[in-house]
Amino acid sequence: MQLWADSDRRGRFHTTARWWSAPFAELELEVPLAGDILEVGCGHGVLSTYLAITSHARRVVGIDIDADKILLASEAILGLRPDEADLRFEVEPSGVVPPTEGGWRSIVIADVLYLLGRERRDALLAACVDALAPGGLLVIKEVDTKPLLKARISQLQELISTKVLRITDGHALEFASSEELVATLVDLGMSTMSKRIDHGYLHPHCVVLGTKPVVSVDAAG
Ligand SMILES: C[S@@+](CC[C@H](N)C(=O)[O-])C[C@H]1O[C@@H](n2cnc3c(N)ncnc32)[C@H](O)[C@@H]1O
Repeated sequence: MQLWADSDRRGRFHTTARWWSAPFAELELEVPLAGDILEVGCGHGVLSTYLAITSHARRVVGIDIDADKILLASEAILGLRPDEADLRFEVEPSGVVPPTEGGWRSIVIADVLYLLGRERRDALLAACVDALAPGGLLVIKEVDTKPLLKARISQLQELISTKVLRITDGHALEFASSEELVATLVDLGMSTMSKRIDHGYLHPHCVVLGTKPVVSVDAAG
């Protein structure tokens, strides 16, 4: 959190709130320890930074549509020593998943899909699958639609963030269940699993994992 200590008050508030309310430590355990890792919708960069400093063999790139957040993230990591993390941030337009040579080892999307609406969400997930390396892992963290009380608390909070405080940019507010996300990844040809990571948290955090086949179904056919 010290990296964001010189950010403006809004930036400090948001990064501190993310750190304490999101299960980043649990999520980090799901991400491969080495290779090219992309975070789509990285916001102020807290999760990307955490991924990069917890394993120096990860080459992490964080992207977001919000240029102010990317600037804040880029300024914050100037506080890291060069050997402390392999990490950079870039602005990308909505729906764009930048390629990397050989494909990404893993793409992480944390609390972004609910902002997109069904059509954009499915298109973004398809673009992520395309951009993954064979055997690459898609790690999706969302708030689930159950248990109902936890889900209602998160949905109300997100409504306030996007429509009242306007902290977060997004096109729609549409919360998908973990089952819906699993079904979408299965349709995209991935092996999937999901689990709850909300023990001790107010929000119904869940993670959905999808592994891209090493040999495409067409090639195998
Ligand atoms: C709730 S924040 C989550 C930020 C970060 N992933 C985290 O866990 O702290 C949602 C982020 O998604 C970004 N976002 C919204 N629509 C997007 C899109 N189509 N492509 C990429 N990022 C998007 C917003 O700008 C915002 O920074």
